[in-house]
Order: sequence, then C-alpha cells, then structure tokens
Amino acid sequence: MLGGLATAGAGGVALGAHHENDAMGKLIYRAIPSSGEKLPIMGLGSSATFQRIAGSEDVAAVKGVLSTMVELGGTVFDTAPSYGASEQVAGQVAKELDITQKLFWATKLNVAGYGGGKADEKAAREQLERSFQYAGKEVIDLVQIHNMGDLPTQLPILREYKQAGRIRYIGVTTTFQTQYEAFVQMMKDETLDFIGTDYAIDERHAEEMILPVARERGISVLVYAPFGRSRLWSKVRGKAVPEWAKEFDAATWAQFFLKYVASHPDVTAITPATSKPANMADNMRGGMGRLPDAAMRTKMVALIESL
Ligand SMILES: NC(=O)c1ccc[n+]([C@@H]2O[C@H](COP(=O)([O-])OP(=O)(O)OC[C@H]3O[C@@H](n4cnc5c(N)ncnc54)[C@H](OP(=O)(O)O)[C@@H]3O)[C@@H](O)[C@H]2O)c1
Repeated sequence: MLGGLATAGAGGVALGAHHENDAMGKLIYRAIPSSGEKLPIMGLGSSATFQRIAGSEDVAAVKGVLSTMVELGGTVFDTAPSYGASEQVAGQVAKELDITQKLFWATKLNVAGYGGGKADEKAAREQLERSFQYAGKEVIDLVQIHNMGDLPTQLPILREYKQAGRIRYIGVTTTFQTQYEAFVQMMKDETLDFIGTDYAIDERHAEEMILPVARERGISVLVYAPFGRSRLWSKVRGKAVPEWAKEFDAATWAQFFLKYVASHPDVTAITPATSKPANMADNMRGGMGRLPDAAMRTKMVALIESL
C-alpha cells in the first residue's frame, strides 16, 4: 500500500511516501487490479540477454539468473516465442531447479508480425500450445499479444483459453511509439488483465499516455526496458551514484533506475533483462526498501537529463 503524503509527482500522478515495506531485504508487492493477487515488483525479462542461448555456458547463466531471482523472492519471468530459445531453455532450467510452479510465467502470442499482418488461427494455437510445452505448466499465468499483432484474430483465442482455465491472465504489449495511440485506444475498448510497455527514467511517455489509462481501466502494468534499452548505461558510465540516492536506498545505478520506475504507483512489476546473477541480485534490490517520493523523482529526472 502506498501510504503517507500524496503529492503531484513527475508525470502528474499522485505519488505516495517512501515506504511500501518496513525493511530492506523484503520485496515490495503490488496487486493485480483484476484479481487482487499480489506480485513481487521485481522480475526478469529475457529478450536480448537470453536470445543468444547456444551452448552450455549460456544455459548455466540462465540457471544462475533464474535461481537468484527466486532466492531473492522474485517470481515474474517475461519471455516470448520470438526470443530465440528463451522460452524453451528457461522452461527446462526452471524444471531442473524445481521452481516451475514458483514462477509467474509471462509469455506472449503473435504469429502476425508487427506491421499489421494477419495471423493464421491454426498457427497461433500451435504457438500457444508450444508455450505450454516449454513452460512445463498446465496453466500459464499470463499470455499477452506481442506488439499488438492482429488483435481481432489473436485476442479471442486468449479469451477462449482464459475461459477454459488454461491461462490465468491475458494482455497486450507494445514498446513501439508508433503504436502508442492505438494501444491506448485498445486499452479503453478491451477488457484486459495486463499490458506490457516500456518505461524508463529517460523514456517517460508511459507516464503521460499509458499509465493513467491503466489506472482508470484497472489494468496491471508490466514494465519493459527499464534501463532505456541500455541508453542509460552509456549515460552514467564512469559516474558515481549521487549521495542523495541513499535516501531511497539506491546503492547502484541499476537500483536508481529501477526505483524511479517502481515508485510509480501504477506499475505492477518490472522485468529488467540480465545474463548475470550478480546483476540479477542488484536488480532485485531495486524492489526493496524505500522508494523515491515525488520531489525526489523530479530531482532524479533532472540529474539524468543533465548528463
Ligand atoms: N514488446 C514487448 O513485449 C517487449 C519489448 C521489449 C522488452 N520486453 C521485455 O522486457 C525485458 C527487458 O527489456 P530489455 O531487454 O530491453 O532490457 P533492459 O532491461 O532495458 O536492459 C538489459 C541490459 O541491461 C544490462 N543490465 C541488467 N541489469 C544490470 C545491472 N544490474 N547492472 C548493469 N547492467 C545491467 C544487461 O546486461 P547484462 O546481461 O550484462 O546484465 C542488458 O544489457 C526483455 O527482456 C523482454 O522480456 C518486451
């Protein structure tokens, strides 16, 4: 629960005070509006970092990253059939680690491409069935239509699976600015449990366009690319994290960036991608302890914009 002072923050939203948890070391949880189920705010994405899974070294890295997330209380794992061997290898690794049932498995559906192509219904169903096989789950937690691909064909398929109890939550994603307007309209028109979109301290379109509609419509938000597709890493290379970041328990730049996103009350969970267990542990700490308040968020943006 967001408690304490509510002030108009960056992006014009009411932002609460610092504590959503009593102590460091305990992950913040946020509720899924359509069910009330609570999810740990920090999870793991897998596109670029898991895509290049070729040999046993890469599989060992996936194992290290997934086990670190779960050891530190995380559950949300975001994948997609289009992320190379990510779905398949992560599913196998989860089985070996015996964590399959602990994971909130979030995958995607899209056989239509991103440019307004038409989905073949049979191919869509086959893709979905492969996802069940790879996840090793009889019920998948979340399936989203990837990048708004052919919604008239693919969304009813997800609804049918949800109705049958095989998918718990359904949603739609985009991280393409050219799709934002249509995305927001779709959020108003459709009944969805989740959306997935990009949001980072240097890419705040979501604050203006997407998050307010998610709040209004009671849609859960999964945040992608919280490091600005790695733009942020080049901005801060060689620079120290400011002293004042201690006021919201951010010891590293990763925690600084993640806490900016996490402190928006309409964000349900964040899935930063990494191929390294140490970075995974760092990222999990971005979901623990105090969060910046509205004034601090403004200061954070000013710093990043000055770099
Ligand atoms: N339309 C969609 O549905 C859509 C679109 C985009 C993304 N996504 C999802 O969102 C996920 C995240 O987005 P993204 O892949 O663009 O990645 P990202 O999370 O913005 O950035 C990942 C990069 O940050 C580095 N990194 C991660 N943690 C770090 C840390 N603590 N310290 C230093 N470097 C760190 C990683 O390198 P190391 O491997 O070296 O840690 C990697 O190069 C994707 O994997 C995917 O699951 C979905």
